Amino acid sequence: MAVIAGNWKMHMGAAQTRAFFAELDLDESASKNELLIFPPVSSLGVAAACPDRDSRIQLGVQNIHWQDGGAFTGETSAAMAAEAGASHVLIGHSERRHVFGETNEEVALKIAACCSHGLVPVVCVGETLSQRQEGRVDEVILGQLDAALQALEGNDGRFLLAYEPVWAIGTGETATPDDAANAHSTLRTRLEAALGLAAAVRRPILYGGSVKPSNAADLLGAANVDGVLVGGASLDPRSFAEIAAAGGR
Ligand code: PGA
Repeated sequence: MAVIAGNWKMHMGAAQTRAFFAELDLDESASKNELLIFPPVSSLGVAAACPDRDSRIQLGVQNIHWQDGGAFTGETSAAMAAEAGASHVLIGHSERRHVFGETNEEVALKIAACCSHGLVPVVCVGETLSQRQEGRVDEVILGQLDAALQALEGNDGRFLLAYEPVWAIGTGETATPDDAANAHSTLRTRLEAALGLAAAVRRPILYGGSVKPSNAADLLGAANVDGVLVGGASLDPRSFAEIAAAGGR
């Protein structure tokens, strides 16, 4: 079983969301997977109520604020996301960290908000190209993971991790299955040390960064890669269905 997640980013308004679910034709093998779509928050209600949405697909939001409510113009709370139909939340996506300056401290607060509202955080970690060139991959991703683990301490709820090397996101550059396996094994070893073997195995680690139908099966075949987080290729129902089928093999 693999987790196949689509991050729609700031794409797909209500009409496109309805069209996506009407056109999406998942094959039988996709049932072996956990399927997630993260629409923009304005399309979440439409996606949740869409009669054409395959019931195997769960929904999430791409970001939340850590406060339950208040004067935070433009923000969405965890409770609001849950009420609108989200079960999962992307936390610390690289675009949040690098475009909007989100820090590890804010990531931790958002994880805590997810935990208090029964939402499953999908915590994203990943290094930039210059950090990779400086040989700092492990230091960066473990620093991001440790901040997340502190926020998750004492919480038995589910969480997912996503390794998304920043240089591979939206660039067409994909990490090789070996690159992914190396980073995922570093993360898994830290999870085991922090949580114990059994609990670490239950935390899926997704790979993200230019995943497409042509490379999904190879990436999903790499050691410790339990799923994929797909941006651009998740906007097209045919390519999302192909990636979902690759995870079912
Ligand atoms: P991409 O995006 O597949 O378009 O590279 C992945 C992501 O940002 O989650």
